[in-house]
Amino acid sequence: MISTEKLAAVREQFPVTRRQLYLDSAHQTPLSLSVRDALHSFINEGYEMAGPKPVWIRRAEETRANVARFFNASPSEIAFTKNTSEGLNIAANAVPLKAGDNVVLIEGDHPNNAYAWLNLKAKGVEIRFVPLKDNEVATAKTFEPFIDERTKVITLSHVTFHAGQVHDVASIGKLCKERNIYLVVDAMQSVGVIPLDVKALNISVLAAGTHKGLLVPQGLGVLYVADGLDELRPAYIAMSSMLNPPADYIARSEDMAVRKDAQRFEMGNLNLPDLQALDAAIKLIDSVGVADIQKHVNELGDLLLKHLDELGVNVVGPRERGQRNHIYVLDLPVEKWADYFSRNDVRVSPERGGIRVSLAMFNTSEDVERLASVIRSGQTENAPAVTMQLD
Ligand SMILES: Cc1ncc(COP(=O)(O)O)c(C=O)c1O
Repeated sequence: MISTEKLAAVREQFPVTRRQLYLDSAHQTPLSLSVRDALHSFINEGYEMAGPKPVWIRRAEETRANVARFFNASPSEIAFTKNTSEGLNIAANAVPLKAGDNVVLIEGDHPNNAYAWLNLKAKGVEIRFVPLKDNEVATAKTFEPFIDERTKVITLSHVTFHAGQVHDVASIGKLCKERNIYLVVDAMQSVGVIPLDVKALNISVLAAGTHKGLLVPQGLGVLYVADGLDELRPAYIAMSSMLNPPADYIARSEDMAVRKDAQRFEMGNLNLPDLQALDAAIKLIDSVGVADIQKHVNELGDLLLKHLDELGVNVVGPRERGQRNHIYVLDLPVEKWADYFSRNDVRVSPERGGIRVSLAMFNTSEDVERLASVIRSGQTENAPAVTMQLD
């Protein structure tokens, strides 16, 4: 649990909390002071002395080591990408798949994952969708009836963006190990709010962006590729992918060997400002610890559910601890409520099934109380329609 003093210090880091009730970290993180300072310092260095780039690259490598620790991986297993979608597309095009092989996904999971694999239908790969209700979580049992000897990949979000389900990646990972299936996880909604141990979960590839639980602006992604999966070949390569990059910068066709580590999937220059920001963000997250962040958002979730019950508002996703974490989609009509919350300075997201409230390390029980009181007042008010936005 986060102590009162620590929570106050964390909250100070997020000035947005003084301006509005921010319950939208599953959409985008507000920036902390420390992240803003890291970005400022990068801009100043670029502005005043144009780098030096080797210093920025050295810092990026330190960030790689910190990200690896975050996932219980080794630095050689971490590549930096642009976002989750890029990581998932890298995976979809790296796994050796032949016509007639199949990939199993959950129906309605994030479209950016689905499209990466659906794109392989052109090669004759079969894409199987497993139906799942919004208030259910996927386990090994969910997938078992859909897999056979031609199943090569199971891929899913760890936490879903549209209902907040926390899928049972541990049992699915065990199944994948037993059946020799690659497990590709979209951790965009879980990274930074749920401790992730890629080894214990038997994840082959994990992709995430960094603009939610990892607290930095859009444009940087992290990709874990388990060591030893040498058969996963990059579809795109640049000099940064090569095992023996030519010192004279002249590409020669005789040596096309790619690196053994995850950096074979990196393409050219990295997002150095965001990487510098990510290092500051990880320090801030570490000052609390992901396990305590998870406990904190779960406790706030308990309080939220209590208030929702009193208000007669249902949630679309599961209610049980362990099956939900920091995302709660309130079964309230978007046409009425999205605009109402916005008028009341409450930042939430309209989603498929209602209004998404997402909790973060800086939210407090007072935030939840205030949300409940805003809902109470809103239950008697009418508001105009808005367009739904998906992220
Ligand atoms: C589960 C999930 N996957 C993927 C994405 C998209 O990620 P990106 O923009 O990093 O590709 C999101 C939301 O932005 C998401 O919630």
